[in-house]
Amino acid sequence: MQMMPARKALAEVLHSASEALRKKGFPTPRLDAEILLSHQMGMARTGLYVHFHKSLSREEIGGFRGLIERRIQGEPVAYITGRKEFWSLLLEVGPDVLIPRPDTEVLVEEVLGAAKNFGRENPDILEIGTGSGAVGIALAKELKNARIVATDVSEKALHLAKKNAAAHAVADRIHFLQGNLFEPLSAKFDIIASNPPYISEETFKNLPPGVRMFEPKEALMAGPKGTEFQEALIKGSRNHLKDGGWLLMEMGEGQKASIEDMLNETALYEEIKFTADYAGLPRVAGARRKIS
Ligand SMILES: C[S@@+](CC[C@H](N)C(=O)[O-])C[C@H]1O[C@@H](n2cnc3c(N)ncnc32)[C@H](O)[C@@H]1O
Repeated sequence: MQMMPARKALAEVLHSASEALRKKGFPTPRLDAEILLSHQMGMARTGLYVHFHKSLSREEIGGFRGLIERRIQGEPVAYITGRKEFWSLLLEVGPDVLIPRPDTEVLVEEVLGAAKNFGRENPDILEIGTGSGAVGIALAKELKNARIVATDVSEKALHLAKKNAAAHAVADRIHFLQGNLFEPLSAKFDIIASNPPYISEETFKNLPPGVRMFEPKEALMAGPKGTEFQEALIKGSRNHLKDGGWLLMEMGEGQKASIEDMLNETALYEEIKFTADYAGLPRVAGARRKIS
């Protein structure tokens, strides 16, 4: 028979879980423990401090220990809770989709900037590789009159993206399509945005274990070089980007020079630019299609 843990105060349980994570080398042990305990208790993180001296039941302690154990095994916090905040929107996430990253908010900002410059309120926007729907949903929330098409090759990802779009009341504003890159599309767009897989085979081997083991490989890994998807986006946009339209793509460290070369080689784009992320690294490549 399994022994039930003894009752303990919330503060003590939180402290020992955070210590256990710290000793295992997790970078944000206290934050992880707080998020997981608030998930277990069904309360906001601030609620933990209100109930700091509350005595937890054996079931609550046992449940929380289970969550901490999963974290110790490397599972990302967002997969354990099934939630992640992006652009101040709470999204459902799971192992079929990449966990949206704060850096991708730079892509959203760039699309909003480009959309503003069109001088009309209803740009046609395409997002390729929508995953949880994070980017497309954020754009639908911000650009009330935009027409948005969001694609993904993964049927399971699209299922979740649609669910998230419905939860944020924008399901009727985003047209979701399944397929490889531009294959499901015939229209032309004012803006093509994508956070594509951009990890090279070599870099993949060195990713933190939590990312490598738990996040979908097809959402991360592009190919031997890492820039294969950006290359396909640059070439494919020839048939799908309107004159004067913007191509905006997320990118990884060390990819600036080859993306710039690829953009220049097509002779299709002007106003090539790179926008830095919050750490100061080039994160979003942008280029405007020349007016023919
Ligand atoms: C880096 S994730 C980005 C997910 C989401 N947009 C975000 O920023 O959190 C890349 C996404 O591209 C999708 N994908 C991979 N290969 C694809 C392809 N050939 N065509 C369309 N989507 C693809 C993956 O399934 C994944 O959801």
